[in-house]
Amino acid sequence: MLKFPENFLWGGATSASQCEGAYLSDGKGLSTADALPGGKTRFQTIFSPDFDWEIDETKYYYPAHSGIDHYSRYQEDIELFAEMGFRCYRFSIAWTRIFPTGIDTEPNEAGLAHYEKVIDTCLKYNIEPVITISHYEMPLYLAKEFGGWQDRRLIEHFVRYAKVLLERFASKVKYWMTFNEINGALHFPALSLGMIPRTGSNDKQLVFQALHHQFVASSLVVKLAHEIDPAIKIGMMTIYATGYGYDCHPANQVANMEKNQEINGFCCDVQAGGSYPSYTQRIFKKYRVKPLKMATDDLALIKKYPVDYIGLSYYMSTTIDVIDPERAKVAGNLTGGAKNPYLKTSDWGWQTDSAGLRIGLNELYQRYHKPLFVVENGLGAVDILTENKKIHDSYRIDYLREHIIEMGKALEDGVELMGYTPWGCIDLVSISTGEMSKRYGFIYVDKDDEGQGTLSRYKKDSFYWYQKVIRTNGKNI
Ligand code: BG6
Repeated sequence: MLKFPENFLWGGATSASQCEGAYLSDGKGLSTADALPGGKTRFQTIFSPDFDWEIDETKYYYPAHSGIDHYSRYQEDIELFAEMGFRCYRFSIAWTRIFPTGIDTEPNEAGLAHYEKVIDTCLKYNIEPVITISHYEMPLYLAKEFGGWQDRRLIEHFVRYAKVLLERFASKVKYWMTFNEINGALHFPALSLGMIPRTGSNDKQLVFQALHHQFVASSLVVKLAHEIDPAIKIGMMTIYATGYGYDCHPANQVANMEKNQEINGFCCDVQAGGSYPSYTQRIFKKYRVKPLKMATDDLALIKKYPVDYIGLSYYMSTTIDVIDPERAKVAGNLTGGAKNPYLKTSDWGWQTDSAGLRIGLNELYQRYHKPLFVVENGLGAVDILTENKKIHDSYRIDYLREHIIEMGKALEDGVELMGYTPWGCIDLVSISTGEMSKRYGFIYVDKDDEGQGTLSRYKKDSFYWYQKVIRTNGKNI
């Protein structure tokens, strides 16, 4: 039988730009997420040299503008989370609700008041808020005028924003994370760093420079958070895509080691380990990156203020094959990789691999000895709403059950695990495609890929299943 700690944080996760909508309400400024068009080719669009961050409603539909209207329906949604028994709710704050352009000197009180109400609603139901300060968005002004995080001044603007949040909410919110999926930077520079081809997203020198600025900003925020309240736990957030060499060919094993260091290790080594890892120069050489520009005390700061815990998203493993160029490839949220013949793929071609989660948790814990928090995991699938408004999502239950079992085994391995917040606990806009039809939730939201629908919420079968999981603290799955 699985044994989860009594205080295990069962819950769910969302992000502001993927669910709030209300993109211009109460003084909010435009964010980079507001300029992302919907549709399966979204990533191709934003990587194209013509993409210029201009919003043109005659050309595109922008799903973030209306989301699932969580901005005005947060009470109803949190009430549903409470009904499932959530002990925590991970959500993000939209930077542009607090500082509309990013360079404003005074915060927007209406934005702060909104999040205060969200936090208070959580607390009313004994749900611990878990806040991501920046989740794949930033003020559009900073992207357009500064080229995003490649500009060192972003550190000062981000820290000012984080300070306002921490000072206002520290007494109510114990768990924080700085940047969502910080290691997505190399792969999605527009989302993570506010950089598009015109502002240098194809230039790895600038991308690594931008990442360095985020490392420094994160350490400054860790310092600040602990000064404000030493009880605050502030984490990093990384994509973890457990790596396998395709077979026992040494070349595949070496390639896997190198890839694993690059995608899973690098950011964790800096943010949790406190320094740039020994293999940094190999990675820089690969991408022709010259020494980064650093201020005198950057490295000391990174060393002195590592994160308290590691938040991770886990959706799939990655299989590396450098021997057979003909080997079939698969999609993924980071690198995709070779098709693993032992794994099933989701409707969107992501390979599901629950055992990979246990391996990843062990790898992370053995390396850093810091508490881990699985803050994203889940199955993006097509759901059918029946005539009597039911959703029979046994495939989602199976996916989540298998991953919970592996977390249980990781606990037996001695891994310190704080909690589990499956992604998109209520259906929301997909980050990679802007679709609504890629659904993750326990709660169905009546809205389609073109933005049509009543926005009514319906409980899926997985809603009742997860309610039971939480009620029995993972014993009854
Ligand atoms: C994670 C992101 O990479 O994966 C989320 O932090 C995202 O923002 C989630 O939504 C699932 O990805 P997608 O593309 O299916 O929405």
